[in-house]
Amino acid sequence: MKAAGRKVTMLTAYDYTMARLVDQAGVDGILVGDSMSMVVQGHENTLAVTLDQMIYHAEMVGRAVQRALVVVDMPFPTNLLGPYKAIENAGRILKETGCEAVKLEGGAEQAEIIAALTSAGIPVMAHCGLCPQSVHQLGGYRVQRDAKQLMADACAAEKAGAFSVVLECIPAAVAQAVTDAIAIPTIGIGAGVGCDGQILVINDLLGITPAPLPRHVKTYADLARQIDDAVRRYCEDVRSGAFPTEAQTFT
Ligand code: KIV
Repeated sequence: MKAAGRKVTMLTAYDYTMARLVDQAGVDGILVGDSMSMVVQGHENTLAVTLDQMIYHAEMVGRAVQRALVVVDMPFPTNLLGPYKAIENAGRILKETGCEAVKLEGGAEQAEIIAALTSAGIPVMAHCGLCPQSVHQLGGYRVQRDAKQLMADACAAEKAGAFSVVLECIPAAVAQAVTDAIAIPTIGIGAGVGCDGQILVINDLLGITPAPLPRHVKTYADLARQIDDAVRRYCEDVRSGAFPTEAQTFT
């Protein structure tokens, strides 16, 4: 798609129902992101979700998807314990979920792990720029502006065998330069229009994430309002006796 100049579309999904809808709507790739820790589990950051929980959800997504590529995040710190452990953990993801690839946060400092996984036949998507698993070290979720480091990270990931790289929250000009410099597709989130593709968290896109949303998000629906409205109307109908009617009643 990169060679043909066709943009890659990716979204996150965490369960069967949503993955099926997203897949049917024609997205190219689905990420079972560790953002699940925040948007599904309600944690403050992405550090809490476990490998078993990622596998549990990725298995539901894998079962739903007919056509999109499904990538599963390696949760903290399952890619940071050496090549042997990384292969064991990523191997479990592929074996137990039916999904096709893993994503891990990091570039140059993860090159050895990316190389080990790819040589074990496990496709790897790298993730450079803002790496949410390092939130405590970074001191918050900030735009990452070290252009030299970002270029080195993306190039190292490509050289180590990654098939794609997510670029999160970096200046658009840096993302464009990285995209031009490497042959593998860059998938941006808060990285401008110059990337080879884009990814968003599905809850953000659908308008069910409570405000404030980060600047890079565009909402395409107001599902929170629609859900609120539907639930209120249901409660009113039950309380007033307007539901169920004969149409929903067995005789
Ligand atoms: O976990 C996630 O949802 C991600 C995307 C934001 C790229 O890593």
